[in-house]
Amino acid sequence: MIDAVPTRHETIVVLDFGAQYSQLIARRVREQDTFCEVLPFDATWERVKGIDLRGVILSGGPNSVYDDGAPQAPAWVFASGVPVLGICYGMQLLAHQLGGSVIPGTAKEYGPAVIQRDRETPLFDGLPDQLDVWMSHGDRVASLPPGFAPVASSENSPVAVMADAQRKYYGLQFHPEVVHTPRGPDLLRNFVREICGCPGTWTPGNFVEESIAAIRTQVGAGRVICGLSGGVDSSVAAVLVHRAIGDQLTCIFVDNGLLRAGEVEEVLDTFDRNMRMKLIHVDAREEFLAALVEVTNPETKRVRIGNTFVRVFEREARKIEDARFLCQGTVYPDVIESASTGAGSAKIKTHHNVGGLPADMKLGLVEPLRALFKDEVRRAGEALGLPDEIVWRHPFPGPGLAIRVIGEVTAEKLDILRAADLIVMEEVRAAGLYRELWQSFAVLTDTKTVGVMGDFRTYGYAVAIRAVVAEDAMTADWARLPHDLLAKMSNRIVNEVPGINRVVYDITSKPPGTIEWE
Ligand code: XMP
Repeated sequence: MIDAVPTRHETIVVLDFGAQYSQLIARRVREQDTFCEVLPFDATWERVKGIDLRGVILSGGPNSVYDDGAPQAPAWVFASGVPVLGICYGMQLLAHQLGGSVIPGTAKEYGPAVIQRDRETPLFDGLPDQLDVWMSHGDRVASLPPGFAPVASSENSPVAVMADAQRKYYGLQFHPEVVHTPRGPDLLRNFVREICGCPGTWTPGNFVEESIAAIRTQVGAGRVICGLSGGVDSSVAAVLVHRAIGDQLTCIFVDNGLLRAGEVEEVLDTFDRNMRMKLIHVDAREEFLAALVEVTNPETKRVRIGNTFVRVFEREARKIEDARFLCQGTVYPDVIESASTGAGSAKIKTHHNVGGLPADMKLGLVEPLRALFKDEVRRAGEALGLPDEIVWRHPFPGPGLAIRVIGEVTAEKLDILRAADLIVMEEVRAAGLYRELWQSFAVLTDTKTVGVMGDFRTYGYAVAIRAVVAEDAMTADWARLPHDLLAKMSNRIVNEVPGINRVVYDITSKPPGTIEWE
């Protein structure tokens, strides 16, 4: 298995004390072209010693450092001699563990604040004396540990920043990783590039080169199969493996009949005709539809579709003699999540578009994107020369349009939805909004409503348009699409798609709604 951590790269480790923002910190560090790994707060030296460790960031967390059993930073952090940045709880840990003290604050500080800097420190090089920051804490540092000096204060935090210039230990009471701290990236850059001295070699181009070499070493002359869905992750993974081993790779593309308009053609065009990858196109539309007859429950739809996928994929995969490896588009958030639940990293995700394979096929896993966040997958895709339509494609759920047809799924309803959905996509693209939106699509409700067209009354389906903005799919806000754009979509859908006579716009955020309707 290819390790998630390319140890050749200088690495910053984020120790996760249960913060909402640990992954975000890692993403921000990586934006400085520096590799960054998120590890549980109690990661052992054994886990870390092979890494080219250049700095440690202690994350925020929900605890109070003085509580019994509150998580502490392991001893290796201070023994390793590398710079340390403590953020919020992480700063309080520095104070608590190195000989200072932390007390409950008289006023909790939550939200925007301004800090005033009173002392020079390399962490603030190039930054003004006053900074807008985002605070979120109840406790505060009362006395500094030996070696530390106060650097900046805010109205409610006498010590908003502290530094030990000798040991290169820094504490921030605020969150530099969130967008509400506008100069946060500069601060992290100073820490990563100047204080830790990371040269910035973690670039998409380097990643691609190194992955190709690693894949060649891993698979040798073996044959690899890959389930290609047309989504960003599986596409980039497949192209990377293809670049490494050419025709030793066979991709299997299952048309489940639940894809959006034009997607099958696009996948065949891109990978078969243009990139000349070995691609098996399986037309399993009828098999999937048959599995969905009379099913209305969303979770049952998912299970039926998942099972059908595994059956179809396995049947095709077995035809490829002497296949030894399975390529998957597992990405870094999956790795972190499976590590935190204690699940084995080789476990095939049930949610994954690619599905699983039976154990008796004894395939090794090739997961070239294990170290990447989604935005890095896209940058790698660009470095590989994949077309924009694939690299910037909106996420699409494995169960596809089946969870966007509310109620029973039929071929007729799928056709109606595909036609309406195509109009939404075309108009979003024409308005230049595709990249700004996280997802945008149509949903076919199972409600029929009365309408009037010309001299006739109609009785047809109501369709919903869903468009959201998001940084990841955990939270999302409904997109404030221009009224003219909504009007155009509505007119076109009602006029061009037989069977639909009403269009509504979904103005629910997540939470409390979900992005999909089912
Ligand atoms: P929700 O609807 O939970 O969706 O807000 C969050 C993100 O996940 C996608 N999604 C799925 N992806 N299989 C998938 O592969 C699924 O069953 C599934 N359900 C939702 C959804 O499109 C959004 O990006």
